[in-house]
Amino acid sequence: MSRRRLPGELSRAQELARMLRVDHAGEVGATRIYAGQLAVLGHRPVGRTIRHMAAQERAHKAEFDRLLGLHKVRPTVLAPVWNAAGFALGAATALMGERAAMACTVAVEEVIGEHYAAQVARLEDIGEGDDDAAIATTIAQFRDDELEHRDTGLAHDAEGTPGYGLLSAAIKRGCRSAIWLAERF
Ligand SMILES: [Fe+2]
Ligand SMILES: [Fe+2]
Repeated sequence: MSRRRLPGELSRAQELARMLRVDHAGEVGATRIYAGQLAVLGHRPVGRTIRHMAAQERAHKAEFDRLLGLHKVRPTVLAPVWNAAGFALGAATALMGERAAMACTVAVEEVIGEHYAAQVARLEDIGEGDDDAAIATTIAQFRDDELEHRDTGLAHDAEGTPGYGLLSAAIKRGCRSAIWLAERF
């Protein structure tokens, strides 16, 4: 049952389009972050772990590619920004060392995990029909993958990188800004 909307509120379709757009943008960014990390660390033993996460991000992105097409939602116009910024973030933190790369992973995945959890809750509120239920199930599964990536980062001593608190806070702030922008543009 859909509740009443206040004037100026987005319609369910608009809100769903916004969700799919930002999620697609986020997965584009994630694939690029891991590509940046692999450009620096791909030859190290940790490269295997990063490649595994990168493959999952590509699968996430492919699913949102499909959902954008299915629901006729245009992708973010900022894709070139997420492409460049994601790669730069991944490569820059990897150049600081493996633990810094993992700190980046922990920060990004934590924010995306929260973001997906909030969307699942929102879809339970506004969702209508099987399509929306299927999207909620997909997002819940991706949320679990992202939290697994965060835990992988923690298991690789992310918190041991010098300046962890500052680095983590800066990356989380950046991710939240990126989400805000990607929802709108
Ligand atoms: Fe992902
Ligand atoms: Fe992830």
